This record gives sequence, C-alpha cells and structure tokens, in this order.
Amino acid sequence: MRAVVYHGPGNQAWEEVPDPEIIGDGDAIVRVDAVTICGTDLHILKGDVPAVRSGRILGHEAVGTIEEVGDGVQTLAPGQRVLVSCISACSGCRFCREGRYGQCLGTGGWILGHKIDGTQAEYVRVPFADTSTYLVPAGVSDEQILMLADILPTGYEVGVLNGRVRPGDVVAVVGAGPIGLSAIMGSRLYSPGHVVAIDLADSRLDAAKQFGADVVINNDREDAVAAVRDLTGGLGADVAIEAVGVPATFELATQLVRPGGHIANIGVHGKPALLHLEDLWIRNVTITTGLVDTYSTPTLLRLAQGHQIDAGRFVTHYFTLDQFEEAYDVFSRAADTGALKVVLSAPG
Ligand SMILES: NC(=O)c1ccc[n+]([C@@H]2O[C@H](COP(=O)([O-])OP(=O)(O)OC[C@H]3O[C@@H](n4cnc5c(N)ncnc54)[C@H](O)[C@@H]3O)[C@@H](O)[C@H]2O)c1
Ligand SMILES: [Zn+2]
Ligand SMILES: [Zn+2]
Repeated sequence: MRAVVYHGPGNQAWEEVPDPEIIGDGDAIVRVDAVTICGTDLHILKGDVPAVRSGRILGHEAVGTIEEVGDGVQTLAPGQRVLVSCISACSGCRFCREGRYGQCLGTGGWILGHKIDGTQAEYVRVPFADTSTYLVPAGVSDEQILMLADILPTGYEVGVLNGRVRPGDVVAVVGAGPIGLSAIMGSRLYSPGHVVAIDLADSRLDAAKQFGADVVINNDREDAVAAVRDLTGGLGADVAIEAVGVPATFELATQLVRPGGHIANIGVHGKPALLHLEDLWIRNVTITTGLVDTYSTPTLLRLAQGHQIDAGRFVTHYFTLDQFEEAYDVFSRAADTGALKVVLSAPG
C-alpha cells in the first residue's frame, strides 16, 4: 500500500510500504476512506515531537471501513464503517475506566501517527478497536465524521467543558484556527451571551463569525483586554479559552477573565508561560489544561446526526489520497490559502 512516511524534520513522502497486519487480538485493519491533516502533523514535521521517529506513517484522524479484525474484537465486523479516533483506549486501565482515555496507561492514548503507524495511508492497524473506533451513524457524511476524530472533541472537552461554559456567559476564545473554531461552535450549544473571537488574522476572524462568534477582535490592531472589559461592564469574560499555544496568548487569557471565571488552556505549549499569581491569587480564577480524551465523541456524533452542529463546515479543500504532497502544502500555508481543514479521500 501507499502511505505518508515521516523521514525526519521537513521531510515526508507518499510512498510504497508493507500492508499493516493484525498484531494484537484486539486490532482491526481499517481501509481508509477519508483522512485529514492536523496542525500537530505540522508540529511533527518541524521536529517538535521527537517521539515520532523516522519511518513512521503520520496521521491520527480517519474514517474508514473495517477490513479484518483480530480474534478478540467483539463489536466490529468487516464491512462496517467507523470513525478512527485520535485517541486509542485500552479500556482496562485506571484512566480508561474513568473516561480519561488520553492518559491511558495500557499503551493507548495518542499513539496513531505518533508511537505507532497512523492513518495517512490506504490501510491502518487500529489497536483496541472496540473502544478506539465509533460506528458511523446513518446520514452523516465522511467529512463531518472526520472532524470528530480530533478537533471537535478537543475544542469541546478541553475548551468548552473544562471552561464550564454556561448560558449567558461571555466566552472569549483566543486563536481562531480549527481548534478555536471548534470551541466557538461548542460554546454556541450553551446559549452564551457573547462569544468573542480574538486572532491576529482577519481571515480567521471572518471564519470565526461564520462559526458563531458575534464579536471579533484583531489583537494586532486592538486592545483585546480593553474591548472585553467594555463588553462586560469592566469585569472580564466568564470563560477565556486559549487555543494558540504560545506564552503571549496564555497570558492574554489570564487577563481577559473576570474574578471567579475559568481559563481553559487548549494550546500545546513548547515554551514556559508566565503565570502572574501575584495578580491572579485574589481573583478566584480556575485554570484548566488538558489533552483531549474523546469521551465526548458519542455526544458529538449525535449532535452531528441531529444537525445541531455543522461539522462539515471546517472543510475548505478536497484532495485524493495520492495528492498528499499538495494537501500538506495547502494546509501548511493556511494564511495564504484560507485552509481550515483538508480532506483526502480514497479514489472511487
Ligand atoms: N490539548 C489538545 O488536546 C490539543 C489537541 C489538538 C490541538 N491542540 C493545540 O491547539 C492549538 C490550536 O490548534 P489549531 O490547529 O487551531 O492551530 P492554528 O495554528 O491553525 O491556529 C492558531 C490561530 O492562532 C492565531 N494566533 C497566533 N498567535 C496569536 C496571538 N498572539 N494572538 C491571537 N491569535 C494568535 C493564528 O492566527 C491562528 O489563526 C495548537 O497549539 C495545537 O497544537 C491541542
Ligand atoms: Zn490532531
Ligand atoms: Zn487504558
């Protein structure tokens, strides 16, 4: 088969590799029908994720068809269509028992395209298949399903639910990439008073309006803290969601929040950020962090099926699997191309 193979920083290729085989009895082999590229794949290509070794097949999001299952697989059969989640769950460890699959102690967690070969391929081996895939419900398109493999649960769990968004809240989202937009879409489910999107790029702020932000602030030109204070009678946002992953935006989130409010950090940080406890201690703020667990995937599938979220809206570009090179190029130049999410489908 063919797959996107990582050959060290800045170097990946769509090339011929051996077909995957069942190794554990809980494994399934899934034929990939559609797959996407994540911002994290770009981090890997920059060399920011050293656990990814040369020779690894990239990708941790897919929708596909079960081709073969191991002897221990109980709920899946060849021919069934499944969402392959970015997080695998052994289901037996302490954290899986608590629904914290991202922290799985039993060789699950984020493994696809990281510690084992991933989904940017014609076929992928999925360990713990019973608990790491979700049957595709009727009436939901491949591209909608794909958005549920990573970005939507991330924005919803690590942003909206950790941030405890409630009806009437003013929610400030710093960063309007796919993750920030997912947090905006998820916040809308709770009837917020205002959703404020903050970004340096006007194109991303235009997207934020389409995803449900009613106030947009370009913090290159405007003072975001002053604008949010104006909107909230001087208090600040009830919930500030950080969806960028640099020190400046975490510090901005801590300045945006009102006393007693919640700061939900989603961004993956590579450098230390300053925590101004000397200002924050007296303001009763709560700060949460997290890697997505994907415990919300069944809920999001129902919301997509019931048209309560429009997951397909993220998709800006379509390709076939053999166009990976072009797809990576378009996705990595999002500021020029307007890319939010790209979908690569198997031909035919
Ligand atoms: N916690 C998790 O489980 C998890 C999962 C997936 C992704 N992430 C992380 O979430 C973050 C966002 O992901 P994405 O795919 O949306 O990224 P992205 O790069 O597409 O979007 C980031 C946005 O932030 C904006 N931005 C950059 N600097 C800014 C600043 N100083 N002020 C305001 N806006 C600024 C950019 O213009 C861009 O629109 C990344 O750090 C990613 O690694 C976390
Ligand atoms: Zn991802
Ligand atoms: Zn586990």
